[in-house]
Amino acid sequence: MTMEAKLVTVPESLPSNVYNTERVGISKATHDAHLTLWQGYAKKTNEIRSALAAMEVDPGSANQIYSQMRALKVNYAFAYGGFINHSVYFNTMGGEGGEATGAVADLIKESFGSFERWVADWKATGIAGRGWAYLAYDHEEQRVHNYIGDGQDTFPAWNNTLLLAMDVYEHAYFLDFQTARAKYIDAYMQVIDWNAVNARLPK
Ligand SMILES: [Fe+2]
Repeated sequence: MTMEAKLVTVPESLPSNVYNTERVGISKATHDAHLTLWQGYAKKTNEIRSALAAMEVDPGSANQIYSQMRALKVNYAFAYGGFINHSVYFNTMGGEGGEATGAVADLIKESFGSFERWVADWKATGIAGRGWAYLAYDHEEQRVHNYIGDGQDTFPAWNNTLLLAMDVYEHAYFLDFQTARAKYIDAYMQVIDWNAVNARLPK
């Protein structure tokens, strides 16, 4: 029995706030190229969902070494993970940056001791990661963590809500900062939209 796949909406454009980052040197050209990558994650998410819903794969052929089922499931985490983390990246960007505000500021202080200590950890997380830094709310311990993301599908823990996602893949900064990732991170810190981050906190 097959069923209709529920699809994600492929983004046609970026939230307009994103372009406020030009004041810190993250260019429109970078964002416009980046949009096509985000669209790619959305399209591949939908392609995999459709294949699974249509039962194009014979469940009897599933195999842990190589199988269509394995390819779909493993790459789904990369595709949908890339759709989600780019959604959070673009929707929490283009603000005033600076020190965190609201409830997330309290959580950061409780979890890291001070905002400055969080910044130090966050920047180092962004340098140590191969693709992403993630700020997430941990429902198990009611605190926030900074996680490294190498790919779209690594390495958060379960039962965490993603609050802030910083793309540190080279496509996010090479055009504007070449290999100077730390300079890009410094620029990024000035355009975080803390209101948008607070809006992502679970009630
Ligand atoms: Fe990206």
